[in-house]
Amino acid sequence: MPWRALPGERPDPYRVWLSEIMLQQTTVAAVVPYYEKFLTRFPDVQALAAAPEEAVMQAWAGLGYYARARNLHACARAVAAQGGFPADLDGLRALPGIGPYTAAAVGAIAFGLPVVPVDGNVERVVARLFAVEDALPAAKPAIHAGAARLGADPAARARPSDFAQALFDLGATICTPTGPACALCPWTAACAGRRRGIAATLPRKAAK
Ligand code: ADE
Repeated sequence: MPWRALPGERPDPYRVWLSEIMLQQTTVAAVVPYYEKFLTRFPDVQALAAAPEEAVMQAWAGLGYYARARNLHACARAVAAQGGFPADLDGLRALPGIGPYTAAAVGAIAFGLPVVPVDGNVERVVARLFAVEDALPAAKPAIHAGAARLGADPAARARPSDFAQALFDLGATICTPTGPACALCPWTAACAGRRRGIAATLPRKAAK
């Protein structure tokens, strides 16, 4: 994924933030070409802030959820005015279009803050690992508590950026929504959902 830093490289907060906004409600495969085009047209947050709204909307056209693009532009202007991205969760949360998930993702991946961003993939991994049987959304507090427990492990705290991205990858490739590949999972021995034979049924969804 082009937004990932190479080992030993410092991730660019602009690139991490841009990828996280694009990945909301959109798949990795759909995002990649837009992400590349955006970086060519707007190589840094100052360039994005200085661009006219129409140029940003035009580069976004096709990705959908256009409120994201308007917030993206407003956020770039706020960040440029501040001289760069804030490196703490409260500062990130105060920016347009940045909620708890995006603040945690940018905080962990770009700034190495010891937090675990909980997206749908991470929700699934954690619900299974701790056998959280409540249905969503009631399960969210237990899932967030489980994610925080994982993040408190010294190995996770030492590398929050890698830990967050490894959790995304585990959810996307092994701990998949249906037919999880438990035999390949590094956490299979620890997984309470697997032990109880209910991993694939988690997280449960409230009946509609
Ligand atoms: N989904 C949200 N953020 C992601 C990331 N950094 N890598 C892969 N999938 C993601």
